[in-house]
Amino acid sequence: MGDRANFGSKLGVILATAGSAVGLGNVWRFPYMTGENGGAVFILIYINCVVVLGIPCMISEFIVGRHGQANTARAFSKLANGSPWALIGYMGVLTGFLITGYYAVVSGWCLQYIWASLIGHLQGNPEYFKTYFTELSTDPVKPVFWTVVILFMTYLIIEHGVRSGIERASKLLMPTLFILLLLIVGASCMLPNATKGIEFLFKPDLSKLTADVFLGALGQSFYSMSIAMGCLCTYASYFSKYTNLTKSATQIALIDSMVAILAGLMIFPAAFSVGVNPDSGPSLIFITLPNVFQQAFASLPLVGYCISLLFFLLLSLAALTSLMSLHEVSTAFIHEEMKMSRKKAALVVTISASVIGAFCSLSMGAVDGLVIFGKSLFDWFDFITGQVFLPIVGFLTCIFIGWFVPHHIVRKEFTNDGELKSRGYLRLFYLFIFLVKYVCPMAILVIFLHQFGLLK
Ligand code: PHE
Repeated sequence: MGDRANFGSKLGVILATAGSAVGLGNVWRFPYMTGENGGAVFILIYINCVVVLGIPCMISEFIVGRHGQANTARAFSKLANGSPWALIGYMGVLTGFLITGYYAVVSGWCLQYIWASLIGHLQGNPEYFKTYFTELSTDPVKPVFWTVVILFMTYLIIEHGVRSGIERASKLLMPTLFILLLLIVGASCMLPNATKGIEFLFKPDLSKLTADVFLGALGQSFYSMSIAMGCLCTYASYFSKYTNLTKSATQIALIDSMVAILAGLMIFPAAFSVGVNPDSGPSLIFITLPNVFQQAFASLPLVGYCISLLFFLLLSLAALTSLMSLHEVSTAFIHEEMKMSRKKAALVVTISASVIGAFCSLSMGAVDGLVIFGKSLFDWFDFITGQVFLPIVGFLTCIFIGWFVPHHIVRKEFTNDGELKSRGYLRLFYLFIFLVKYVCPMAILVIFLHQFGLLK
């Protein structure tokens, strides 16, 4: 497959993959998880999870993807050699596909918030922000409209292919995202009493360390690094044979964690400065934050207006680059397995993800009957993809690489066919095998059992 598409440069590899990792998970989920789980202690455990578990799992997916030079399903099949292990790849594609529609709904809310900030609708008292969000999420038209808009924006990028679509867009969007991030962090940290928020993020209070903090950090690190959704494997199939997988995974993990911590530095100093407790859970970004920005910059309304606008712009850019990677998982699969042109495949994915997204969105209150066993369709997607499929696919991938695939094949991929052969690097290889063989599967099993109350 000499003519298979690939990323044109090292920078492209890093920015595109970091674009997949940096998303709503960093700017939305990480801050509220930190708020709920004791601040600095959570961050400390989180970083350990990224290094010990996240990076090895990321490398495992890279190995499958680059070795396979094909979409996730076929890449796993190639290494599985006709055994049922091939199913992991299909599960990865399915998980990636299912999450696309649901992720697009939340991304759509971000677009609506850009619009609302722009026309000055994001101003009022705390009660107003609550009503605003409830009305938006239960509206039958607006969120569906924005979901479809963001999916079509993704389509316009994806249909241009790997280099001129994904890579080019990432090279533009990721630096923009960084600049916005630094601007808002600067403004937030200059507020009076900002130091309290900074302390909350960096001064660990070990008395807050509980099993839940540990499990929360573990789950968050996997979600944030885009593990087990087929994305890393699909992107790795576009890496060149010279890409150093360990180095790239480490750089991507570093960027991802830095963005998460900077997102904390954007939100906590502002929240503490106006005395708002940042432990409000998922509504932190959409309800608490607009209010915090408005109050914090009350004496400089124009700055407040710009910060709020830039914040939702940043959130949307982060969501878009993640959505691109999710979309690509199914696009590559349909394009290669069903022999459809790339454009057509991308369109099929966009339309079907729009339908799923629309149903998820409508299940939040606009239409009765989309609530199954007391959970809305939206919550079901969140639950099935994040809490069931993600741990299963992650667990099986580690077992597959650690126990099933012959180690000489894993080693060949890990060392770029023997090119990377210093003694230190080979030690890293043995460490990697140890981690994916024992440590990662055990840790994933523990979160999984705990989630279902089987382990207290
Ligand atoms: N990692 C992304 C985030 O932090 C979410 C994501 C998960 C994207 C899986 C793609 C695949 O938001």
